[in-house]
Amino acid sequence: MKRLSSSIVLLMLLVGAGHAGVLGSKHDLSLSGSSQFQYDTVQACVFCHTPHEGNVDDKYGGSGGLNLRGYLIWNRNTPGYSSFDMYDSESLDYTEVSPQPGPVSVMCLSCHDGAGAMNVLLNLPGSAGGPGALDPAPFSGVTTNQFGDFSLDDPFVGPLNIGEAVADGDLGSAIVSPGTNLTNDHPIGFVYNAALATADGELATPVSDKQVDAAGLVRLFEGKLECSSCHEPHNNQYGAFLAMDNTDSALCRVCHLK
Ligand code: HEC
Ligand code: HEC
Ligand code: HEC
Ligand code: HEC
Repeated sequence: MKRLSSSIVLLMLLVGAGHAGVLGSKHDLSLSGSSQFQYDTVQACVFCHTPHEGNVDDKYGGSGGLNLRGYLIWNRNTPGYSSFDMYDSESLDYTEVSPQPGPVSVMCLSCHDGAGAMNVLLNLPGSAGGPGALDPAPFSGVTTNQFGDFSLDDPFVGPLNIGEAVADGDLGSAIVSPGTNLTNDHPIGFVYNAALATADGELATPVSDKQVDAAGLVRLFEGKLECSSCHEPHNNQYGAFLAMDNTDSALCRVCHLK
């Protein structure tokens, strides 16, 4: 009986762990999280959003596509550079030349560029009397990249640096500024619409400028493909914060008719 009830509890825990949500996920950097980074606060959203005093950065003057300007009341700094090196190939059909990440992707890159520190926030938790008295200690000290060095070769931290610099032979002799290299990543920041689907001939036609599939699992942002077309940062039920199950490369095949 005891064993039975404890396996029921275990089952409930397992079901709970599979439940969609930020809390307890690897994107929860608070005390309730499961990230390798854990800070002394009981607030989980605060590492990305704040109710007030979000990022109003317009240092790119609106031209680079990198401005946040209060967008989704982002509680983090914008990456420190004005442009990224983007994926390119001779077989691309979209016509934008070196499109830049849109604001939703810049938000991911404010941590995953391999340059920004997790604990540097614009508005600290508890600073206006919210839960958990403010203890600034965990939010000072380290101020730069915490995903390890900029090497692609580090088996654990390397892959989390999506904007990694390349310092050795991984991409020939190319060496780019830390945090700006998206040349070896799936292209983002370009418009994916019916015209592109027609031009390519092997792409699904998006149902609207907000989503590719009818169910809306694979999203577009102002018609553009961004990190969050493939990812859902609030939900790790499919692993890698994917927007849907990628068994049999199902995610790829929502867009690519191959
Ligand atoms: C607050 C900083 C932060 C932001 C912003 C952020 N991430 Fe993360 N992300 C992390 C940390 C920290 C980890 C790794 C935690 C660990 O491995 O312990 C992580 C892990 C991941 C992983 C691997 C998950 C796994 O199962 O191992 C993916 C995929 C990911 N993030 C994608 C994204 C995407 C896409 C965005 C934007 C939509 C984003 N992240 C925004 C901090 C962030
Ligand atoms: C690791 C970073 C991260 C954390 C933690 C996080 N978010 Fe987000 N959130 C994002 C990013 C990036 C976007 C924009 C891209 C997207 O929607 O995928 C976003 C978008 C949103 C949006 C607007 C789009 C939508 O889905 O409706 C809301 C609302 C939101 N987040 C609420 C929350 C709340 C509430 C929490 C805490 C329970 C939270 N977020 C925690 C990164 C995060
Ligand atoms: C076209 C789809 C797609 C886009 C766009 C995309 N990702 Fe991913 N990403 C994936 C898939 C699929 C995986 C899981 C790979 C696996 O199964 O190991 C992944 C894995 C990751 C990981 C985990 C480490 C790794 O390399 O496996 C991180 C971190 C991540 N993505 C962040 C991002 C960020 C940040 C962006 C935007 C700059 C982005 N992704 C854009 C599909 C995408
Ligand atoms: C949200 C839709 C979407 C998803 C999901 C997606 N892709 Fe793409 N992918 C595109 C579009 C659109 C292009 C640009 C095609 C073009 O302009 O010719 C592209 C480009 C590519 C390219 C470069 C093609 C070239 O001509 O250089 C490859 C390779 C690729 N995707 C593979 C994948 C794989 C593998 C996955 C799954 C991990 C995936 N894609 C997921 C939409 C998507």
